[in-house]
This record gives sequence, structure tokens and C-alpha cells, in this order.
Amino acid sequence: MAKASRDTLYAPLRLPRVYNLLQSLTGGSRDRADFVKRHVLFRSDEKVVDAGCGTGSALEFLPPVKYVGFDPNSGYIHAAQSRYGSRGQFLCGDADSSEVWELVQSADTFLSFGVLHHLTDSQIRKILSLAQRCLRQSGRFIFYEPCFSARDDVLGRICMNLDRGGNIKTDQAWRALLSEYFATLEEHIRRPVYWFRYTIQAFICRDPRQL
Ligand SMILES: C[S@@+](CC[C@H](N)C(=O)[O-])C[C@H]1O[C@@H](n2cnc3c(N)ncnc32)[C@H](O)[C@@H]1O
Repeated sequence: MAKASRDTLYAPLRLPRVYNLLQSLTGGSRDRADFVKRHVLFRSDEKVVDAGCGTGSALEFLPPVKYVGFDPNSGYIHAAQSRYGSRGQFLCGDADSSEVWELVQSADTFLSFGVLHHLTDSQIRKILSLAQRCLRQSGRFIFYEPCFSARDDVLGRICMNLDRGGNIKTDQAWRALLSEYFATLEEHIRRPVYWFRYTIQAFICRDPRQL
């Protein structure tokens, strides 16, 4: 599907209420929560950056941490601030914004939950580069995105082709891209059973490569 028609078709999802409603109807954040609960431990003093934080729904399943979320959609940021303002800092912007660069420095954990497949390749690289540069050497990048793989369910494959994000990559392509920025990748393939069956590829990436 062409980018312009995809943008028009999914325009209502730019509204925070519509986006939140779809998330709860599809169970979109349930599997993210389960992945984090099973595989990611947080210290209460760690700095967690949530890139493309949307309406801040990760705070539903994150424990208390020093949370910073950024997103270019001002409506989402407003909704996040109203609901979770006491739990962290939110900033409207993207990886090109100098305020974002300043705020995210010395992060322990950098999250990208369902964000990168909405971006162009150049925007994806800006986010990965931001994560690589702002993480402490002991830090980690948590990646959770849909992927095309040899074992996709047929219905899932159709839904992924129609996804609002038009840049879902194959599992090999995501792996190759991440390994340019991080030396150690711990990979988890997930097939959460919603009413559609996406293949989700999650990584815990460590050892940001030195520039
Ligand atoms: C599917 S939503 C995911 C939101 C959130 N991470 C979650 O798990 O609910 C994708 C998000 O990416 C954001 N986004 C779009 N372009 C971006 C960019 N260049 N940098 C960071 N985030 C971006 C969108 O505004 C949207 O909030």
C-alpha cells in the first residue's frame, strides 16, 4: 500500500483516544507487558528512555524507574502527561530534537516498543544512533517490533502487510541492522495470539558499539 493512502486510512489513530481504544481492543500492549515481565529486570534508580512513547502506556507495566518518554505527536504527549505526568518526564520531539538529545543522555535502558516499523530507514537509523550514543556502556536497548519470517501465520502476514507502519522488515533484516549498533543481541521470537497473529521479534541489545 502506498504511504499516502496508508497515512489517510490510519489518520484517526493519530488521536490519542482512538489509539488507546485500538490498543485495548487488540491487546496490543499485553504481550509487551508479558515480554518485559519475563525477560527484563529494572532497578528503581535506573534511567529508562521510551522512544516513540505514544500515550505513555508502557508505564502501565513498568515498575517505578526514572522514566523519560519522547514522541513527535503532541496529542499523544499531552495525553501521556495528563495520565502519567507524576511518573516521569515527557517531551514532544524526535531524534533530531536537541532537547531530546539532552534529556536522554546517560540512559540505562532505551525502549523501542512498536515504533521503528513506522519510520523510514533514515529515521530508524537516527533512533538507533541516539540509543547507541546516549546509553551507558552497561546499558541496553530493548527492541520489540513485528517482523516477516518464514514461519508467519497466513492471516498474520496479511495483517502485517496492512499495518499502519509501512516498514516491517524480515527477521534477518532487523537482526543485521541492530548488529551494526550493538555487539550482543539476545533474541526472542513471539507469536502472541490476538485476533490477528503477528510475528514479533524482540531483542535485548547490549554493548553499544564504540564510535
Ligand atoms: C504504534 S505507536 C507505539 C507507541 C508506544 N511505544 C506503545 O507501545 O504504545 C508508534 C509511535 O511512534 C511515534 N513516532 C513516529 N515517528 C517517530 C519518530 N521519528 N521518532 C520517534 N517516535 C516516532 C508515533 O507518534 C507513535 O506514538
